[in-house]
Amino acid sequence: MSSTIGTLFRVTTFGESHCKGVGAVVDGCTPKLQLTEEDIQPQLDRRRPGQSDLSTPRDEADHVTILSGTENGLTLGTPIALLVHNRDQKPGDYKEMQNIPRPSHADYTYQMKYGIRASSGGGRSSAREAIGRVAAGAVAEKMLLSNYGVEIVAWVSSAGSIQSNQVDMLTVTRSMVDKNTVRCPDSPSAKSMEELIREVAENKDSIGGTITCVCRSCPAGWGEPVFDKMEARLAQAMLSIPATKGFEIGSGFRGTQMRGSEHNDPFIQKKSGLGTFTNFSGGVQGGISNGEPVYFRVAFKPVATIGQSQKTVDFNGKETVLEAKGRHDPCVLPRAVPIVESMAALVLADLALIQESRKP
Ligand SMILES: Cc1cc2nc3c(=O)[nH]c(=O)nc-3n(C[C@H](O)[C@H](O)[C@H](O)COP(=O)(O)O)c2cc1C
Repeated sequence: MSSTIGTLFRVTTFGESHCKGVGAVVDGCTPKLQLTEEDIQPQLDRRRPGQSDLSTPRDEADHVTILSGTENGLTLGTPIALLVHNRDQKPGDYKEMQNIPRPSHADYTYQMKYGIRASSGGGRSSAREAIGRVAAGAVAEKMLLSNYGVEIVAWVSSAGSIQSNQVDMLTVTRSMVDKNTVRCPDSPSAKSMEELIREVAENKDSIGGTITCVCRSCPAGWGEPVFDKMEARLAQAMLSIPATKGFEIGSGFRGTQMRGSEHNDPFIQKKSGLGTFTNFSGGVQGGISNGEPVYFRVAFKPVATIGQSQKTVDFNGKETVLEAKGRHDPCVLPRAVPIVESMAALVLADLALIQESRKP
């Protein structure tokens, strides 16, 4: 079931990078929710390549069609099938890589696992697979916003060694994030990041970084003890995104350098009930949301396919030099922002329905 996520809000993605189409089937969405392609397309537009000179010049429009599960703009409660046709295919770009597994990509491991693999574009390991996640994530977001008022916003918080200054998690919006091509709402840092990514691209290299995500207005009580803790489910979802290498929630690894007296989040009385004064917990305690904003950070590696020549060996063990010809991203972070938001939405939608199922 490696292409399926979720227990009650269940999503299966399908499609390889260069087959006829990619997408997802969403099973478990509540009925009578207003949903059309217009709810889904904006997030796909934020993921698609060719948005700026910072990403790959591949030009894929990635238009989504809802094949089933809605009528007259309302969900029917039945499986929602979402399809995006693959258009801008240039399998020729991958010719020189057919017999050479790309260092730090998934060509070797797919071949070892299945004894066969998609001949170009990375197949299921390509970021085109994430189209299904983003389309399904938009459905989950619509359900979360309509039924609970949950808002999810992610942004690029570092690129290489450039760290963004503090961003206000309570007020940051997607339009603030989208003000620049790098998707970092702190403008001076964004400028430095853009310069760095351009320099890296000129050197035919790639660069990694981090994305921070906040989920506001999650009610207290979502997340399951013991194995389906909210942070465990989020970590699993985030680390399933291609090129991710790390996950931390709340104070994360930095919290290891604090004392308990600084790190504890004291309870205070708020309008809506008990809240906490600080939020080093990242909105989750004992695996269950406490009503404070849920926030976490995801680390992305510098992606594998680079134009520089790399010494390696082919599938027969013969020494060779690989110079990738494809049109690849020097830094995937700006395009990964909607993927992080979508995966967060899929997890929260599932945990919300699980909690609903407890109601008498
Ligand atoms: C939005 C996005 C775009 C990506 N584009 C590329 C790319 O152009 N070239 C590449 O080598 N990897 C790219 N990747 C990463 C690969 O898909 C990933 O490294 C590969 O599947 C191997 O998996 P792993 O890095 O998680 O081990 C991209 C990832 C994301 C999230």
